[in-house]
Amino acid sequence: MSNRPPKVPFVNFSLQHQPIQSQIAEAIRKIIQEGDFILGHALAEFETAFAAASGVKYGVGLACGTDAIALGLQACGINPGDEIIIPANTFIATAIAVVQAKAIPILVDCDPETALIDLTAAETAVTSKTKAIIPVHLYGQMVSPRQLLDFANRHDLIIFEDAAQAHLAHREGYRAGSIGKAAAFSFYPSKNLGSFGDGGMLITNDAQLADKMRTLRNYGAPSKYLHTEIGTNSRLDNLQAAVLNVKLPYLEKWNRDRTDAAQHYNTLLAPLKHKGIVPIANHSSSGHIYHLYVIKITEESSINRNTLQEKLGQHGIQTGIHYPIPCHLQPAYQNLGNRGDFLHAETLCEQILSLPMYPGLSNTQIEQVVRAIVLSLNC
Ligand SMILES: Cc1ncc(COP(=O)(O)O)c(C=O)c1O
Repeated sequence: MSNRPPKVPFVNFSLQHQPIQSQIAEAIRKIIQEGDFILGHALAEFETAFAAASGVKYGVGLACGTDAIALGLQACGINPGDEIIIPANTFIATAIAVVQAKAIPILVDCDPETALIDLTAAETAVTSKTKAIIPVHLYGQMVSPRQLLDFANRHDLIIFEDAAQAHLAHREGYRAGSIGKAAAFSFYPSKNLGSFGDGGMLITNDAQLADKMRTLRNYGAPSKYLHTEIGTNSRLDNLQAAVLNVKLPYLEKWNRDRTDAAQHYNTLLAPLKHKGIVPIANHSSSGHIYHLYVIKITEESSINRNTLQEKLGQHGIQTGIHYPIPCHLQPAYQNLGNRGDFLHAETLCEQILSLPMYPGLSNTQIEQVVRAIVLSLNC
């Protein structure tokens, strides 16, 4: 790969931040002037605004999305040894958080078309110890709320959504984060709504659960120096919340930009289907917010995924893989399964490639990416 800057980068933060730079600088200046750094006004404002935008009553800002899941499970009453169903193909943080909550992750394979958890396969994963399911709205596409509610109601399970990649996504009348008992979001910089560092939030309609989360994130203290829970220190910084307050009003527009870009990719890539280039399916007419635009390079392709990625790099197209190794094949998580246990997830890991995707990605750039794919397949 060359050392020159890519012609089409994988993400571009400055396009997003430049137009609102003075608003952000002013918001940060205000926090510094007021010395309002921890559990301040900006945080309270952001918690209310983000929860409302997601169609939910309460938001609790946390240090990161992983903590939002781990502490959230604790707050939901998950006990050591409880089993929690998660997809085999997710970012490892979903599994980490379950283990941190002292529960047992039970992996389930995915639908090979959408890469989302396969709820039919999940039926056989339920035991008497199963207490919850964590659907992951992967790449910005929600797991069907209708099917999820049916599954969880039949098995009497808590739904705890991992919406880290799905800010304001919607499906079947539900916003991401509004289906279940609670949901976790991440504000990692590259997310559709990203802070200038780490950040996360739990949202819920349950006032008691929200109160418990506020206690857990603050050393288990409902008031100063009174510790009623074994909590931790996991607060979303007021400075980060101030940045997020400035960015939140633009999120719908940024999500629309991503959806438009995805549609352009879909149109241009359609003729390449018979050459083994197949976009991950979008099963609803709207509501997918394309945190990532992912294609599969199937066996019908003249080259494999790694070769295509290398060739695209030579053409100045930066790409990613989300994710190259499924959870159960990670060295630290071998107790979650063996090779062959979750075949769709394993195959996807070998076939998927994430193409450049960000608000402001131009049609010309998308055309450059697709042209580079065609050239790579033909040589
Ligand atoms: C699906 C998923 N779950 C959980 C997380 C964890 O979020 P964070 O990185 O903020 O801890 C992420 C983010 O990277 C994610 O993509």
